[in-house]
Amino acid sequence: MPLEVSRIPALAESLATKSPQDILAVALKEYSPSIGIAFSGAEDVVLIDMAAKSGLPFTVFSLDTGRLHAETYQFIEKVREHYGIAIEAMSPDAHAVQRLVREKGLFSFYRDGHGECCGIRKVEPLRRALAPLQAWITGQRRDQSPGTRAHVPVVQVDAGFSTPERTLVKFNPLSNWTSRQVWDYIEIYDVPFNALHSRGFVSIGCEPCTRATLPNQHERAGRWWWEEATKKECGLHAAANASEPI
Ligand code: ADX
Ligand code: SF4
Repeated sequence: MPLEVSRIPALAESLATKSPQDILAVALKEYSPSIGIAFSGAEDVVLIDMAAKSGLPFTVFSLDTGRLHAETYQFIEKVREHYGIAIEAMSPDAHAVQRLVREKGLFSFYRDGHGECCGIRKVEPLRRALAPLQAWITGQRRDQSPGTRAHVPVVQVDAGFSTPERTLVKFNPLSNWTSRQVWDYIEIYDVPFNALHSRGFVSIGCEPCTRATLPNQHERAGRWWWEEATKKECGLHAAANASEPI
């Protein structure tokens, strides 16, 4: 039986200072196997590593926008082999992509902002990936973006992707971790990582919308760098993060 939605704020409070492993253990106990890890970056493999060690079943999906770096595709394959897991690669709707490219070309985001392209290549496929699930797990951290992620709780109701038929619960077990803690874990447990990290890339998204950062630049400075800091969200997390912190 899924958790009563009314219990989520209390659960968030009781888990607020717990370790990612403890938070994951609760997430998996309550929702396995109807729970999926959204995988694209370093944080997500840390979560896959921790979840794999729990022995409980979970799914993993990746939004294959069609615009990822070659290194990211190699990384996805490396993770698949390393953990012996299936990774559901979610493709965007072919007709929607073709229409966008026909009408606006391949780089409309530099002119119009990234909302339209992310909507087609990321948000709609995410909605499909989440449809059969009761809960999902992301690698968001509070310190990734003081403007938009400062209040990310360890667990929340996902207002953006819930439907009248089912309330979707979203776990962010690394919410309180720093980048340093993530990379310490990667080193200690020999977790696979994207080769681009060795070339100055920190936060990695699609190839045309990501660049390496300079020393001491904020980690998301290389994402959608032509846009204001407050717009550096693509709709995967915007609705949930906009709701009141719990
Ligand atoms: S984004 O919204 O700006 O692209 P970011 O790259 O910081 O997100 O990643 C935050 C979390 O969102 C990741 O830890 C992961 O759980 C999820 N995520 C982001 N991009 C993808 C993707 N392409 N596929 C699956 N999950 C993703
Ligand atoms: Fe399109 Fe860039 Fe968004 Fe990727 S990050 S979906 S290429 S706008």
